[in-house]
This record gives sequence, structure tokens and C-alpha cells, in this order.
Amino acid sequence: MQGSVTRSREFELWNREKMAKSSLGWVSFQKKWLLLLILVIFSLSTAIAFFLRSAFDSCDPHPEERIHFKAPTGSFQNPLGFMRSKLVLLVSHELSLSGGPLLLMELAFLLRSVGAHVVWITNQKQVETNEVIYSLEHRMLDRGVQVFPANGQEALDTALKADLVVLNTAVAGKWLDDVLKKDVPRVLPKVLWWIHEMRGHYFKVEYVKHLPFVAGAMIDSHTTAEYWKNRTQKDLRITMPPTYVVHLGNSKELMEVAEDNVARRVLREHVRESLGVRTDDLLFAIINSVSRGKGQDLFLRSFYESLQSIQEQKLQVPTMHAVVVGSDMNAQTRLEAELRKFVIEKRIQDRVHFVNKTLAVAPYLAAIDVLVQNSQGRGECFGRITIEAMAFQLPVLGTSAGGTTEIVVNGSTGLLHPVGKVGVIPLSKNIVKLATHVERRLTMGRKGYERVKERFLEQHMASRIARVLKEVLDYSKHHSDS
Ligand SMILES: *[C@@H]1O[C@H](CO)[C@@H](O)[C@H](O)[C@H]1NC(C)=O
Ligand SMILES: *[C@@H]1O[C@H](CO)[C@@H](O)[C@H](O)[C@H]1NC(C)=O
Ligand SMILES: *[C@@H]1O[C@H](CO)[C@@H](O)[C@H](O)[C@H]1NC(C)=O
Repeated sequence: MQGSVTRSREFELWNREKMAKSSLGWVSFQKKWLLLLILVIFSLSTAIAFFLRSAFDSCDPHPEERIHFKAPTGSFQNPLGFMRSKLVLLVSHELSLSGGPLLLMELAFLLRSVGAHVVWITNQKQVETNEVIYSLEHRMLDRGVQVFPANGQEALDTALKADLVVLNTAVAGKWLDDVLKKDVPRVLPKVLWWIHEMRGHYFKVEYVKHLPFVAGAMIDSHTTAEYWKNRTQKDLRITMPPTYVVHLGNSKELMEVAEDNVARRVLREHVRESLGVRTDDLLFAIINSVSRGKGQDLFLRSFYESLQSIQEQKLQVPTMHAVVVGSDMNAQTRLEAELRKFVIEKRIQDRVHFVNKTLAVAPYLAAIDVLVQNSQGRGECFGRITIEAMAFQLPVLGTSAGGTTEIVVNGSTGLLHPVGKVGVIPLSKNIVKLATHVERRLTMGRKGYERVKERFLEQHMASRIARVLKEVLDYSKHHSDS
């Protein structure tokens, strides 16, 4: 597995713990930005980093597109309220700081917040250091999530008793046979399978053979759902169960930073200073683990083309910079080396900056002017960084593929370009367009923010998930023999 979005979850969790309790007084306000300041300094100078295990494609679950909720006014009834005192077993394929497990943790906390009993098991080998695992497990225990070993009696008993079992990612399917054995058929009718990937190697019978018999599949985008439908039918000759598309939402913590002008300004100044980018310079960023699939190489080519074209046409624009957030010289050495070589060859070292992987994306979102989402091939499963950027009122220049096309409205909240080499020139033209049309750029950012407020918030995601869970509970009521 490769290439996950640089997550902001760690930052958010940190943020949540440190700040959630602060009220709105000036003192806490001040404290808040001081904390943010510390965070930035911390995340830039030392290494929070590296955790960003590229376990996942940035697919995330999303709710049904047709279910839109207006931001709640007045009293807000938690859409997951009906899950109160239900027993839910969450099966994660790993415990790490990557997109999939963190998303499942978010679901665990949403369910806890309405009084559900939540049990977590991790099915696979350890990919993280003990320290990370320990800290994640403790976060869950603190919030009343029980953590059991994946293959013990407790896990089996919980699976049999549970009202709902959520398998996270295709790979988690192996747990069914490994642990439940002869009891698999009893559990299948209450399984909701949350799928966040769109890669060939997940289409293995050993992972997904039980898929047709579960209560439902929850998938992060329409494109990904369609892809699964095609592949399971054509390659594995199995049929998908009832499938629900659930687009993800931004956490409250991210929105809090995004909507805090003081915090944003402080973060912006600090990050820019650390990169050597001046206040009035224009900063384009790509925020993803560095890999061919995420298209950093093609982005740098587009960026170079746009600089050339601005020079040739003698256009009056601010100094432009590009920042690649998600580098890891240890991991993808070949591509990393290639990117740096390109920058040196084209003599744009003073315009291109590389930043190591980090979970703290909020400071970068505060610091930049445009997000580039250049994922190649089938594109992102969802691409959570896209909605995070839109929360910061940033226009998005994205490939016309995958989840990006379901988030970005071409011409309104951003501009789309084709995947592949044929996209290099269109992307460079879009870069020039946003550099030369300030008003258009700012309007696109605002429109993106409005779109987030309309449909990509945590409460929207919770409502969408709630619809799915209701269906699944209903299904299991009618299909269980116990
Ligand atoms: C699924 O298959 C249909 C028909 O073959 C095709 O038009 C469509 O592009 C495929 N979708 C995906 C996401 O692979
Ligand atoms: C970025 O990562 C590389 C390789 O892991 C490391 O050598 C370098 O010091 C890191 N840079 C920063 C600013 O942390
Ligand atoms: C996006 O919109 C522009 C015009 O604003 C158009 O030229 C382009 O073809 C569109 N791209 C896609 C992928 O729809």
C-alpha cells in the first residue's frame, strides 16, 4: 500500500485535547494561538513527522450524495442518537496514524459520544512503533473505547453479541475466517464493510469473498463504489452487497482552526517565514506522501511551465513558490531524488520547497494560497486534504479523476485538469490563471468554503453514516437467526 494523504488528524487530536475545553474568552483565545504557535514551531523544527505511513489511499467514507443537510440551527439532534447503548465492534486492519485507522477512530468517538459501547480490535501486524500504538490505544481507552486482542475469546464473544460489526478496509476481511471460523455466517448479517481503496491488489478472493453476504458496504466516493462494482463483477464474479456512498467531513477541530483568523494569520506568518516565502508571494502546495500516484513530478513540471509562460508573456504577478509537503527521503528515494534533480536542473531551487511528511497539515493550509491535488491514475478515493483545503478558503487545482471530481466544482471552487502527461500544460495554464486573476482566486476559495459548510462537515458525515447504520441494523434484524 502506498501514498496516503498527510493527515491532520494527529494535529486535530492534539488540538482537541489541548483546546477543546477552552471557552471563548480572550484569555483562552490568546492561549489558543500560543498553543498553535508552539505547535508550528514544534512541527517545523522537530519531528512529529514520519508517522505518516502511507497505508492508505486517501479514500474516505462519505454519505449519500443526495442526502444534504443544512447546517443545523437551534438545537442539534445528534443523528447517531439511536446508537445509544448499542454494542459496536470495530475491526481495524492496523493501528497507525494513517487515514483509514484514524477515520475509524473518529467513528469510534462519534459513537461513544452518543453512548454506544465500542470495542476496537486491530487485526494485523504492527506497523508502528510501540510508542504510537500505545498512545493511540490510550486515546481510545480515555474515551471509553475498549481495546481487545483480535484473535481472543473476547473478540469472538463481542462479535457474536454485537449489534454491529464494522470492518475497515478490504484487508480486514481476513479476520472473519481467521477468528470467527465456523461462526462467520452468524456474524455476516451485521457486518458493515467500510472500504477506502481503489487498487488492484485488494481484489483478492481471500479478502473479499464474504463481501456479497454482509449487510452493506460503505464507500468514500461514487467513483470508488462504481469501480468496486465493476471489478468484483468482472474479475471475481461476486456481487456487491447494498452499497452506500459516504463522503467524508472535516472534523470540528480542523474547522475551528480554519475559521479562526488570528490562528490562521499566526500560522501563515510562521510557516512562510520558515520557508523563506514573503507575505505577498503566491504559494502553491501539493500535500500528499510523495509517490508517482500522487503526481508531485508532474506538478513540478507544470509549475515550471507556468513560470516560463509568465516570463515569456511578461505577466505582472507576485513571486510564485511551490511547496511539496510529504517528502520522505528515506522511503521513496528514487522519486525524491528525481524531484530535487529537476528543481536543480531548471534552476528553481529558490522557488520550490520540500517539507517532510507531517500530520500537522493545518499550518500549511493556513500558509498557502492554492492547493494542488494532482493524484494520477484513477485519482483519489476521496482525498480528504481537498475538503480540508477548502475549509481554509483555498481554491483547488485538481485532476479530473476519482473523488476529486465529486468535491471540486470545476470553474467554481477550483479548476480540473486531466491526469497524466497531457495534464501538465492544462495545469500550468490553471496556475497562471489563478496567479493573474486575484479576484477569481479569492472567490473560488470562498465558494469552496461555502461548499464545505454545506456538505463536508463532521455533522454531515455523521448524518450520512447514521443513515447507513440504520439500514444495516434493519438488515441484520431481518437476516439474523439468533
Ligand atoms: C465501470 O464499467 C463501466 C462499463 O464497463 C465503465 O463505463 C465505467 O467507466 C467503469 N467505472 C469505473 C469507475 O471503473
Ligand atoms: C526530513 O527528513 C529527512 C530524512 O528522513 C531528514 O534527514 C531531515 O532532517 C528532515 N528534515 C526536517 C526539517 O525535519
Ligand atoms: C473545467 O472548466 C473549464 C472552463 O472553466 C473547461 O475548459 C474544462 O474543460 C473543464 N474541465 C473539466 C475536466 O470538466
